[in-house]
Amino acid sequence: MCGIFGYSGEKECNDLIFEGLKRLEYRGYDSWGIAILNGKIHQYKNIGEIKYDKMLQKLQKGNIGIGHTRWATHGGVTKINAHPHISEVGGFTLVQNGIVENFNELKSSLLKKDVHFVSETDTEVIVRLIELELLKNKSLRQAIITVFKKLKGRNTIALLSNNDKKIYAVRNGSPLVLGIATDGIYIASDTLSFSPATNEAVLLDDFDMVEIGGKNISIFNIESNQFKPVKIKKLKHQFNKIDKGNFKHFMLKEIVDQKETILFATKYLRKELLPLTDSIKKGGRVYVIGAGTAGFSAGQIAYFLRNIANIDAQEVKSYEFEQYISIVKKKDILIAISQSGETADTIEAIEAFKKKGCKIASLVNMYGTTISRLSDFEFYTNSGPEICVASTKVFTAQCAWGYLLTMTLDNRFEEGKKNLSILTKSISQIFLKSRLENIKRVANKLKNKEHAFILGKGENSYIALEGALKIKEISYKHVEGFAAGELKHGVIALIEKGTPVLSIIPSENSRDFNDMISAVEQVKARGALTVGIGNDKSSKREIFDFYINVSQVENVSSIANVIPFQLISYYLSVALGNNIDKPRNLAKSVTVK
Ligand code: G6P
Repeated sequence: MCGIFGYSGEKECNDLIFEGLKRLEYRGYDSWGIAILNGKIHQYKNIGEIKYDKMLQKLQKGNIGIGHTRWATHGGVTKINAHPHISEVGGFTLVQNGIVENFNELKSSLLKKDVHFVSETDTEVIVRLIELELLKNKSLRQAIITVFKKLKGRNTIALLSNNDKKIYAVRNGSPLVLGIATDGIYIASDTLSFSPATNEAVLLDDFDMVEIGGKNISIFNIESNQFKPVKIKKLKHQFNKIDKGNFKHFMLKEIVDQKETILFATKYLRKELLPLTDSIKKGGRVYVIGAGTAGFSAGQIAYFLRNIANIDAQEVKSYEFEQYISIVKKKDILIAISQSGETADTIEAIEAFKKKGCKIASLVNMYGTTISRLSDFEFYTNSGPEICVASTKVFTAQCAWGYLLTMTLDNRFEEGKKNLSILTKSISQIFLKSRLENIKRVANKLKNKEHAFILGKGENSYIALEGALKIKEISYKHVEGFAAGELKHGVIALIEKGTPVLSIIPSENSRDFNDMISAVEQVKARGALTVGIGNDKSSKREIFDFYINVSQVENVSSIANVIPFQLISYYLSVALGNNIDKPRNLAKSVTVK
């Protein structure tokens, strides 16, 4: 969701801001804008894709400016509602990430004072409030502080001032980081957006107000009323290029990246996992939380913990943590799973568990993010940037890390590593040309269907849910995942001749094999089009109309079983002509509630 990117320094920054916004695109946006300072404020705003046109080329050049990607919340997708929002008094322009929760209240009090509004946004309320403070002869700094304290919700703002030739920014909840480069200072919603320029970052805390003039920075915390030292953190990784290589879409590239990314997420040494495993052994219940795809990997990780290492582990959707919080005890441990590290629902849950005194562990893909910083034990999936909104490689990386954690708890770290390396080899086989052709055939079968169902059980029940989510997100088809046991309790009523039912079939020695086969028999008897996903040497191969071969590695093949669904989603959505990397209405980083 909304992204902020700014620069102040020696370089002409129009292109830098443009490129920075392109790198924030993955978060999801529907309009965007850039403001450059050169004598006065020069602005460009547009809706739709971030690209150059004549007007943008003509925008005055300068070496200080801010940019924004907007994901509409208050007011439609229009140029007027796009940020930055320029002031009529005081010579500044402002961008915001978040939602002003007391917007109605603030706006109606301004309307009573006859304040005039140009846009429908909550952001403009901030601009008008600052103007009023300036009219009381306050300094811009003081005006920003006074107004920021009136805002409810997780809001982060950045403001470009013509009078001071400075960028001011204040963070609360929504992410904001500084990049320190030799040529100047970057300010952005994530470290990825300025990663080609620098891997030196300053991670701002809530209520930090930063002032950037030239290459100078000062940080003042408006809650504690104190200036803070500028602490520069060297980030482990720097990404120079984000590109699709020879792939047509990021999604396909990221699916194929899984040949390696499971190993990147599990390169941890035993001693690096021990502080967490020791705490789990000494602690109470383990809660594993996440939202969306990360919610399903949280489920898979809790499954591994319960079923392999006999740990009392419970998955909870981040946005449903309140259901559990009354029974959470101080010695319980929370493991938060997140690709972005900035999901508002997950952050809120972490804060509540922290208040209960619980230790927090996290598994995040992006460096320098809020969730890692809130954690006692920080882990990373190390999957590299994931740009497609639908998460693929990070899901399998999260599950694989959870498996290694589990095997470490079960004193089988080495065996866990070995199984993950066998798993990685088996994943490479999925990308053989003949196997991809087979998956494409299945995808084409779904093209003219309205509904499809995915069945899994035990180790594959979360995989069925994630598989269905993947297909829904990009194809916009109605696909539901179920635990196979659910079938006879209702879902079977939906099966008619030709309804596609995709079933994940574990190895024959699995406790779930027979139940899965009987579920398939039941839907087949009602005319379903049956697709099996699993080892094609299965003795029951003949009950399936189609079969996608995935070699089964004991206890861990569930992770590979999701890949055919990712590929079905991709090929089906390409065939339907959909936007693969940016599906409609979805945002990759959901920083508001
Ligand atoms: C959004 C994204 C999903 C993601 C979820 C959680 O819904 O579209 O792909 O799984 O947020 O995000 P996180 O960054 O916490 O993994």
